[in-house]
Amino acid sequence: MRRIARLRDRLGVAYGGDYNPEQWPEHVWDEDLALMREAGVSLVSVGIFSWASVEPRPGEYDFGWLDRVLDRLAAGGVAACLATMTASPPPWLTTLHPEMLTVRKDGRAITPGGRQHYCPSSPVYREHAVRLAERVATRYGGHPALALWHVGNEYGNVVPCHCDVSAAAFRRWLAARYGSVAGLNDAWSTRFWAQGYGAFEEVLPPRSPAPFANPAQELDYARFTSDELLACHLAEKEVLDRVTPDVPVTTNFPPSLRPVDQWTWAPHLDVVAYDAYPDPDDDDAVAKVALSYDVMRSLRDGQPWMLMEQAPGAVNWRPRNAAKPPGAMRLWSWQAVAHGADAVMFFQWRQSRGGAEKFHSAMVPHGGPSSRIFGEVRELGRELSAARTLAGARAPRADAALVLDWPSWWALEGPAHPSSEVRFLDAAWACHRPLHDASVACDVVRADGDLSAYRLVVVPNLYLTSPEAGRGLERYVEEGGTLVMGFFSGIVDPCDRVHLGGYPAPFRRMLGLRVEEFHPLPSGGTVPLSRGLGGVWSEEVCLEGAEAVELFAAGALAGRPAVTRHRFGRGTAWYLATRPDRTTMRHLFDRVREEAGVDPVLPGLPETVQARVRQTEDGPRYIVLNHGTEAAEVPLPTPMRDELTGTEPSGLLRLPARGVAVLRPA
Ligand code: GLA
Repeated sequence: MRRIARLRDRLGVAYGGDYNPEQWPEHVWDEDLALMREAGVSLVSVGIFSWASVEPRPGEYDFGWLDRVLDRLAAGGVAACLATMTASPPPWLTTLHPEMLTVRKDGRAITPGGRQHYCPSSPVYREHAVRLAERVATRYGGHPALALWHVGNEYGNVVPCHCDVSAAAFRRWLAARYGSVAGLNDAWSTRFWAQGYGAFEEVLPPRSPAPFANPAQELDYARFTSDELLACHLAEKEVLDRVTPDVPVTTNFPPSLRPVDQWTWAPHLDVVAYDAYPDPDDDDAVAKVALSYDVMRSLRDGQPWMLMEQAPGAVNWRPRNAAKPPGAMRLWSWQAVAHGADAVMFFQWRQSRGGAEKFHSAMVPHGGPSSRIFGEVRELGRELSAARTLAGARAPRADAALVLDWPSWWALEGPAHPSSEVRFLDAAWACHRPLHDASVACDVVRADGDLSAYRLVVVPNLYLTSPEAGRGLERYVEEGGTLVMGFFSGIVDPCDRVHLGGYPAPFRRMLGLRVEEFHPLPSGGTVPLSRGLGGVWSEEVCLEGAEAVELFAAGALAGRPAVTRHRFGRGTAWYLATRPDRTTMRHLFDRVREEAGVDPVLPGLPETVQARVRQTEDGPRYIVLNHGTEAAEVPLPTPMRDELTGTEPSGLLRLPARGVAVLRPA
């Protein structure tokens, strides 16, 4: 924690982006530095994809250019989040060792020419990566520009490797997990389809079995892949911790959240970092990314996190890449700060001239510093440097929490299920949204975490449940908590074997019901409810103590429960047997919240306005965001001062379209 306190004292709310000076002639670097200073940049990520530039031939190093870059940064007062440069192996390495290339599920190797094309289990890759990390750490560990280490890049954002080296590593991983082949056969239910193994040597990665892979094998492969990537990270981190014990270490989690089990990673990071790319063309983008930000804040129990990358404007990797409207970049940056970020960073500093990302926006666009984007970048830098007091300020523990479990997510999306359209993120967004839209703060918790501090726990989906996690959730309700659970939860154990005794066996007592049969809805279809519409799913619920709050109003299940409520012990458990539409969810959650005593951060906010709070040493700061395209009037319960404008709006704060205020009690 000392490492992080030092970082915070040095940088305040860090501001900057990925800086790739090796793509430019040196005379551009002087302009870079001048513009960084003009924009209030305090931190840049350097060298993420520089392996080939610092080690152009095996064992032959060229650090001269990087020395000059870092010296310039230090002289200009800009700190470096310095990469260990191992995210993308150079051509000489994959030429010498083609066996280290990622092999796709179908057996085809990824060819070099892109990036991050290494097999995480490859001893060759790990050995070379660790050697380079040690070189970099030794050379720059004492450099005045160095503030933080950046290891790898979006570790999970790779094609999972299925090569023979991975297969051997997978077997070792399985042997450690299950102890014996008999244990493995039991865990994978291999009596089915004659899959029984006689020895670990017979086991393969789930490459392309037909017609379906063994779902337990798929699930374990996802666990294994997450663990192997973490092992790569830890191998480098061990070097950094040894050579520079005072310098914090992080890696940036990819936008999609899904690939690695972040609960297992987070304890190994000194600070959580995340890359967010909300789609300006998606009306739901703000609410969706808010969930990711709540995950990031929660991974290390409320510790401020870093928004390591976002786009100043458009990205380049969607089929069609919308630009951010004026003001959106500032507003969305403040959204991250409102949700606990202590750094606002971009991909990237200067827009590339060539290469696959030349149409990705940057802080300094092709058009140069006179462009609108750079104007907004400069303005935001000014604002954030004035917001120093927010650095290190935690968000208070929320009253509501949402349960997220990675193995359950992976298993839910496994093969041959009642509906391939039941996706975890859709469920999570649907349940998080009514809280988000009501400006209710929401933490994210592990399924087996301590829930006792929360008044409301939302379980969007927990398809896979260990008996302990199941009992923990039950106990939470029994002892007075309010819980909302989505359909198709409590179905299987950690080996993807069904919990017998009627669905959802571990939660039947708590929910006061039994599910007889699933009736997934046709793609895009809806079913009328007593109020509103259900989507994605329906199922035959038999009440065993619960009351029906909403009913299916047509179809095979007409008259049967669609939403239920059950008093259990001293608490209440709600169950959603379908996915109600957004308005219906909002009404439902408003009622649940009222019963549970969970309030918005500020009362009476207009629909387009969001508020979140961070607790500084000198009291709360309410960060208020108008996501609307019209001005909004925000009633203030007590006199407040807007730290961005220095004004003291009395009673009513007028926020322009896409406006932001940082309020402190006056
Ligand atoms: C990812 C990577 C960056 C860059 C951006 C572009 O998040 O980490 O290197 O490619 O995408 O959006």
